[in-house]
Order: sequence, then structure tokens, then C-alpha cells
Amino acid sequence: MKIIVGNWKMNGNPELLGQILDNLSKIKTNNKIILCVPYTMLCIGNKNVDIGAQDVSKYESGAYTGQVSAKMAFESGAKYTIVGHSESREYCGITNSDVHDKVKQAIKNNLIPIICVGETESERNLKKTDVIIIKELHECIHDIVGNFIVAYEPRWAIGAGITPSIKDIKYIHNLIYNELKSMGYNKIPILYGAGVSGKNSKDIMSIPHVDGVLVGGASLKIENFMPIIESVN
Ligand code: PGA
Repeated sequence: MKIIVGNWKMNGNPELLGQILDNLSKIKTNNKIILCVPYTMLCIGNKNVDIGAQDVSKYESGAYTGQVSAKMAFESGAKYTIVGHSESREYCGITNSDVHDKVKQAIKNNLIPIICVGETESERNLKKTDVIIIKELHECIHDIVGNFIVAYEPRWAIGAGITPSIKDIKYIHNLIYNELKSMGYNKIPILYGAGVSGKNSKDIMSIPHVDGVLVGGASLKIENFMPIIESVN
């Protein structure tokens, strides 16, 4: 069983969601499928699909115009939420400390956070990947009690249609696994995201400590998403 998460970003509409949910409800799969959709499309999933949000506020409630709390996302049908996605780090200035607060809010309100970590291109070129990822894990996750998922998303590869080598993914997932273990977290699912397609999903999900994938672009069309789901069981 692998965890396959679709991240729709700021795309899609209720009609497309209806079609994709309908298609996915008819398949036979042992995998856990989660669709993280914009807030306006949060709903209850079906027997094969759980719904997730793409972010939640770090605050509980109150005068935070434009924000959506973890409780609201949960009450609208979400079971999961992405937090710390590279696009929210880049465009909304979300820091590791914010991610930590969002993780706490999510868990407190019955959501399972999918916590994204990953290096930028310049950090990669400066060979700082390990240091950055370990720092993100500690600053986002320290003292967290409850269920969560970690997603390794190399920021330079997101939406670019490229992926690191299998060797590199294996190395980073092993690093994350061992770091989490040293922090006292065992059995935390670790997903890989960035550039996942039906062409590479099987190889990626065969790597040790890759428990599933976080899929952006390829989750928006059933003909691209289905081969990823069907590549493993
Ligand atoms: P991508 O995006 O699959 O389009 O590279 C992944 C993500 O942003 O989660």
C-alpha cells in the first residue's frame, strides 16, 4: 500500500473534481489516495479517496481575514492538509516556525498534516541539501505528538518536469528516515514529490523509505493520475 497525494494547487473546479472522484470511486486499489484541493472544493471524499486542504492557518480562529483554520477545513470534509509547501514558503513567506504552528493546529483539529521539506536550487548547488532538510525537520516537527506525514519535495524540481536521480532520492529518503528516527519518530510515512508521472512513479515508489508520492500537475487529469495509482499496489 502506497500513499498517493494529488496537489491541485490553484487549479480545477467542482465539475472536474466530481468527474475525478467518480472515476476513482470505480477502481480497485490498495493504495491510499488523497486529493488536496482548493478550499472552495473541500468536500467529503469517497470509498477510495480522502480529501485534503493545501494549507491551514497557524491560528485557531479570530480576526485573520482571508485565512482558513484547520477546524474549518476539517468541518468541510478534509482529513489531511499540506503544510509548508515550497510555493507557500516562496510566495507567502511561510517560515519553519509558521509550519510548526500549522502542524500543531492541524493535529489539534483532527487533520493529518503532510509536511513538505526540500532544498532550493541554490542550496543544492552549495551542497547544503542535508543541512537544510535536517533543519526543516527539527524546526517544523520538534515536540509534535500525533500522526503526520513528511514529503520530500526538491524545490528546484517542482513543476519543472524533472526529478533527481533514483540514487539521490534514495539518499535523501534514507536521511529523512534516520533523522526522524533519531528524533523519536518511527513509522512516519515519507512521500516523494516533484516531477512525478506515470513514467517514473513505479521506480520512485520502489525506493526504500519512499512510502508514496505527492503529485502536482499530473493529478489534474485522470489519464495522467491513474497510471501513477496503478503503477503500484
Ligand atoms: P509537480 O508538483 O508534480 O507538478 O512537480 C509537485 C508539488 O508541487 O507538490
